[in-house]
Amino acid sequence: MFRTHTCGELRISDVNKQVTLAGWVQRSRKMGGMTFVDLRDRYGITQLVFNEEINADLCEQANKLGREYVIQIKGIVNERFSKNANMPTGDIEIIVSELNVLNASLTPPFTIEDNTDGGDDIRMKYRYLDLRRNAVRSNLELRHKMTIEVRKYLDNLGFIEVETPVLIGSTPEGARDFVVPSRMNPGQFYALPQSPQTLKQLLMVSGFDRYFQIAKCFRDEDLRADRQPEFTQIDCEMSFVEQEDVISTFEGMAKHLFKTLRGVELTEPFVRMPWAEAMKYYGSDKPDLRFGMKFVELMDVMKGYGFSVFDNAAYIGGICAEGAASYTRKQLDALTDFVKKPQIGAKGLVYARVETDGNVKSSVDKFYPQEVLQRMKVEFGAKPGDLILILSGDDAMKTRKQLCELRLEMGNQLGLRDKNKFACLWVIDFPMFEWSDEENRLMAMHHPFTHPKEEDIPLLDTNPEAVRADAYDMVINGVEVGGGSIRIHDAKLQAKMFEILGFTPEKAEAQFGFLMNAFKYGAPPHGGLAYGLDRWVSLFAGLDSIRDCIAFPKNNSGRDVMLDAPSAIDQSQLDELNLIVDVKDKQ
Ligand code: AMO
Repeated sequence: MFRTHTCGELRISDVNKQVTLAGWVQRSRKMGGMTFVDLRDRYGITQLVFNEEINADLCEQANKLGREYVIQIKGIVNERFSKNANMPTGDIEIIVSELNVLNASLTPPFTIEDNTDGGDDIRMKYRYLDLRRNAVRSNLELRHKMTIEVRKYLDNLGFIEVETPVLIGSTPEGARDFVVPSRMNPGQFYALPQSPQTLKQLLMVSGFDRYFQIAKCFRDEDLRADRQPEFTQIDCEMSFVEQEDVISTFEGMAKHLFKTLRGVELTEPFVRMPWAEAMKYYGSDKPDLRFGMKFVELMDVMKGYGFSVFDNAAYIGGICAEGAASYTRKQLDALTDFVKKPQIGAKGLVYARVETDGNVKSSVDKFYPQEVLQRMKVEFGAKPGDLILILSGDDAMKTRKQLCELRLEMGNQLGLRDKNKFACLWVIDFPMFEWSDEENRLMAMHHPFTHPKEEDIPLLDTNPEAVRADAYDMVINGVEVGGGSIRIHDAKLQAKMFEILGFTPEKAEAQFGFLMNAFKYGAPPHGGLAYGLDRWVSLFAGLDSIRDCIAFPKNNSGRDVMLDAPSAIDQSQLDELNLIVDVKDKQ
């Protein structure tokens, strides 16, 4: 037997047992005639003891062990003299009688410790070593448990898991596709799915009325902390359902995951917030509701007093940070710099402190008499000790987004974004379309298969921008953890949708003919949703980036630095694929 126990298993009740363990040398230290080695595997660490007086040869061998050597030992479990209460195996040690070096190791480029000395790049290059560290390993364990719980929950409800292909056709709506050349079809390309959206809809036409898949998705888009080019969805679809059915099924799944993986019992129904409200009060379609600081609009109160910035603004709005009147001039200047950063783009920041006596002292006192400032205070419901922060601009949507960034920053600064607190909500009633300046046309806000709200269908011809969709996103702590919609199942309505999106009938037929044709053969009403698995795991693990819950992630430039991918391919491969590479803008 290679090992009788793991390195995390032995306890005081095992004393005097003869055991065999195998694992990696975490560290070794020599103290007088004794050598202590910490042996590690993914279950824990067990202390090994080599005693020079009992076996000098063995002890000498032990002294030669380097970090990360792979060894097997035999020995007897012994009660420790000085116990370590911080380790599950801290009451015992193994008095080693036999040592077998299974493999030597080079000195690792960084320490395999919880607080490693390795920077990001080096840990990515040696990701297989990084994965030996507790923190990263436990994220993958959590990910595994999550997929088990997802499968249990959905299987119980009669969902079946169906795999859909990864080599599919390009659907240039949404993000950019990753494409794969076809050797057998020269000059033609597959695309990797951005999601299994159309395929799961076809499965509904086939009668699989409850489908799910833990599906790899690929999107060639700019990366952020919560975005990877290759990520995983818990992708689901249901037939004969309305929005309410989908929402309650997946709210149930969220509650199941919270309970089984975080031990959190969420008894209340999730908040539902129409998109328009989320934008008005939080400047975002994914508001973080762990804290308040709801926007207050001040156009009526603050305009007309000769302060030209406000007088000329289309939007004036602010937030009230409770208890933050103690902010110093330096802190307020730093906040001003924050909102003026190019990524945020505000022109400046107006602030007002509510003093102990209730008076308001603002940075624009020379324009506003105290009575106006008092009216403003009332709008916010501000109390002595509070700090009011105000932004204005000539584009209401843009200014709200800037105020959203300021709100989140204040949430961070005031410690209101506690990772152990969860605020879950559904954002509903999304607009069907949004205008794209880049494309100079309407784009689908979710995707072109989303069903418009029944009562808004007449507006498709007259005022498409006012049409709302049966679409919903689940948002937790300001992160969009999932999204979905009721779909169009009528070929005519689907064709109309493509027309509004600027597709000619020929282009719609070429790209989506397969779907519209399928809809002519008895498509049931259907709808669904996809959760972002990576985002769920990082939410539960309290991570700042989804990278840390992916075994082999890409870096911010979309590279796998360990595999050195992407990379050029051999001329012979190019020849087989009938491809000539002519890279523009060579560096
Ligand atoms: P959507 O594009 O909203 O919807 O994606 C669903 C969920 O997937 C996660 N997600 C991502 N996670 C990591 N990296 C990315 N680049 C990334 N992009 C998206 C998010 C998001 O909420 N087919 C539809 C779903 C449906 O309508 O059923 C879709 O893909 O958590």
